[in-house]
Amino acid sequence: MNNTIIYGHRGASKYAPENTFSSYVKAVEMGADGIEIDVHKSKDGYLIVCHDEKVDRTTNGKGFIKDLSLKEIKSLDAGSWFSDKYIGERIPLLEEVLEFVKKENILLNIEIKNGPIFYDKIEEDVINAVKAYDLVEQTIISSFNHYSLAYIKNIAKEFKTGILYIAGMIEPWKYAKEAGASAIHPLFLTINKEIVKECQQNGIMVNPFTVNGEEELKLMKLFNVDGIITDCPDICKRVFDD
Ligand code: G3P
Ligand code: CA
Repeated sequence: MNNTIIYGHRGASKYAPENTFSSYVKAVEMGADGIEIDVHKSKDGYLIVCHDEKVDRTTNGKGFIKDLSLKEIKSLDAGSWFSDKYIGERIPLLEEVLEFVKKENILLNIEIKNGPIFYDKIEEDVINAVKAYDLVEQTIISSFNHYSLAYIKNIAKEFKTGILYIAGMIEPWKYAKEAGASAIHPLFLTINKEIVKECQQNGIMVNPFTVNGEEELKLMKLFNVDGIITDCPDICKRVFDD
């Protein structure tokens, strides 16, 4: 029995428009244990689930999320860029995703996007939303902004955090411990079996991203990682269940 957690990266984003409910539903259908999402803040202070700082790439609109109101963001089509099949998809609010996570009883990795655009009090807002849905246990918060993660541990130590990075870090388990994190979320190319083992011996989970190919997934399985962040939960499940 395989215990590795599969997080659908922005849902099952190889098969449906990233960070939409079609993508999340597909991830669950494909057997993902959870989903990974990205969070920003709108002009009027709502927590918006979208990867980029701007809506240009994944919608029919233009502009920075920080400069758009919720009403403007909700009027955008977030599916047609991917395929006509998904016309009418909307950008989700974090609250809507939390409701879905609760209903499906799945795990959640919230990536706080906080740089190069910095959002005032995004850490507090995310924490309060997760608490309101009673999803602290099921959630891990990650970010490339490690100050945000350290801050979260200061104000809400019950939250699990994951250190996102893309460099080949020296002894990342020491850095993670220093920041009070529960996990590292490294670019998969930067880890090896020894790093994974050292992390786990130090109580730090290893959840690499974004692992899509069968060979890379097999390598991560060999490394005995704790979780996988993937665009292809179906391939991931097949490899890990094998
Ligand atoms: O959380 C893993 C991964 O999503 C981090 O990079 O750019 O896809 O948000 P990015
Ligand atoms: Ca992400």
